[in-house]
Amino acid sequence: MRVKIGEETREVRTLWREGRTVWMIDQRKLPHKFEITATNHHAETADAIRNMVLRGAGAIGVAGAYGMAQAAMEAEHLKPEEFEGYLETAAERLRRTRPTAVNLFHAIDRCLRAASGPVQERVRRVVSEADAVAEEDLAASRRIGEYGAALIGDGFRVLTHCNAGALAFIDYGTALSPIRFAHRQGKKVFVYVDETRPRCQGARLTAWELQQEGIPYAVIVDNAAGYFMSRGEVDMVIVGADRIAANGDVANKIGTYEKAVLARENGIPFYVAAPRMTFDLGCGTGDEIEIEERDAEEVLGMWGVGEDGAPSRVLIAARGTPARNPAFDVTPARYVTGVITEKGVLRPPYSESIRRTFGG
Ligand code: MRU
Repeated sequence: MRVKIGEETREVRTLWREGRTVWMIDQRKLPHKFEITATNHHAETADAIRNMVLRGAGAIGVAGAYGMAQAAMEAEHLKPEEFEGYLETAAERLRRTRPTAVNLFHAIDRCLRAASGPVQERVRRVVSEADAVAEEDLAASRRIGEYGAALIGDGFRVLTHCNAGALAFIDYGTALSPIRFAHRQGKKVFVYVDETRPRCQGARLTAWELQQEGIPYAVIVDNAAGYFMSRGEVDMVIVGADRIAANGDVANKIGTYEKAVLARENGIPFYVAAPRMTFDLGCGTGDEIEIEERDAEEVLGMWGVGEDGAPSRVLIAARGTPARNPAFDVTPARYVTGVITEKGVLRPPYSESIRRTFGG
């Protein structure tokens, strides 16, 4: 993505690898500060995923793969059995970071499967598989943009939830990729950006990306979507996904489900954009998807910066207030108009179109 930092414009990926170092944009600081940070050990990469230095299904998947590459390089002087044990332990540590986005699990498993042959060869293969995961993520996001842009008419007002943009992948994104491509093709597109409480990935990250790209948008509070839909001011909804079950049920950021129901009520097409790595064919329905429940503190307070630019947290609710904080919900497949993938737009019935396109 092209990022303007002061007077300078830079082409940058969300994360990348150089030897044993993984570089990443620190997404906790955006939009107030653009900062690149690094991890030099797979345990640090696992911490970065858990602490949401980076987030979003694709980025988490690539970080998991890079973490495996780091682990393989850390273990290159070990004997074969020790190497295997080290890699398995690293995989387990990376898996335990966040449970819902399946990209992470696919990426780790791919790296483990690649580890065959003498130790030096195993290291080479794991590293090259990790790099392949990253390059495929990039290529898939671009294809999703091309297929998805064809669905966006000139003058469309598109509503999106959370951040399934470049920052949730290596670049381009999924939900935002069709919007980017349509904009670059010269179509007029306007984006309604749900703020996406509690962590506000919409207001903080999606808005920042659209601003960088010069795409017109407005941030709206999460509970305003129905208002704009009912007034005929939304032509289409596009969201991302963290995991899609074999029957087409979609796990995505909390609040997605109600947007889908509202879209149906108002006769608005509801699209999901996601690559193959987000499909979990071993999951029959959305009921089997583990939903991450995060700290109640995220609901009870807000992070931001003061007028002086210094980060600070304010409490919204009284101290000691109980809260629940599921990070994702499941949208039943029946609400989904189509799933935009790197292989084209899948249509209902999804059990068939998913199987035909991705096997299983
Ligand atoms: O908790 P996050 O920020 O990692 O959540 C992921 C998301 O941003 C959304 O659910 C997104 O729509 C799908 S990720 C491509």
